[in-house]
Amino acid sequence: MSEISVLFVCLGNICRSPTAHAVFQAMVDDRGLAQQVSVDSAGTGDWHLGHAPDRRTSAVASQRGYDMDQLRARLVEAGDFEQFDYIVAMDEENLANLKAMCPADYPGSLGLFLDYSVNPDYADISAVPDPYYGGDHGFTLVLDLVEDASAGLLDHIAAQL
Ligand code: 4NP
Repeated sequence: MSEISVLFVCLGNICRSPTAHAVFQAMVDDRGLAQQVSVDSAGTGDWHLGHAPDRRTSAVASQRGYDMDQLRARLVEAGDFEQFDYIVAMDEENLANLKAMCPADYPGSLGLFLDYSVNPDYADISAVPDPYYGGDHGFTLVLDLVEDASAGLLDHIAAQL
């Protein structure tokens, strides 16, 4: 059984949180921690339930070797607060929605993903911007931010194992 479980959350669960899911899982695997750290993602909105990641998201991810083919969108649910040690929001709106669902006695960590960012170039960016209605650059920025914060989050978690 995994010792630490991580759930990444965005709005649609087809762009940002599946990117975090795939990138963080790849880093967990690379560090030989797959037996100890489990990873999932979910959304707060229900427009894309059961859908694969947005093709613009998968395209930039596959250029860097990340495979998202198996991922399917699902909603955050009450049981997630029993199952996951870390619930990690992509932006303030996602975090507010999660806080509204979060039991008062949730023992885990609920916060913003970019709090784990390590690259000083991103020090002024507090949230992963929603790329859905924007151009291709937004999807590349999502991946850049996600790679950086994933490294920081995994260092933080690995120190507890
Ligand atoms: P995500 O992006 O929250 O990063 O998955 C979005 C995907 C879909 C929509 C909004 C954001 N939408 O409005 O359908």
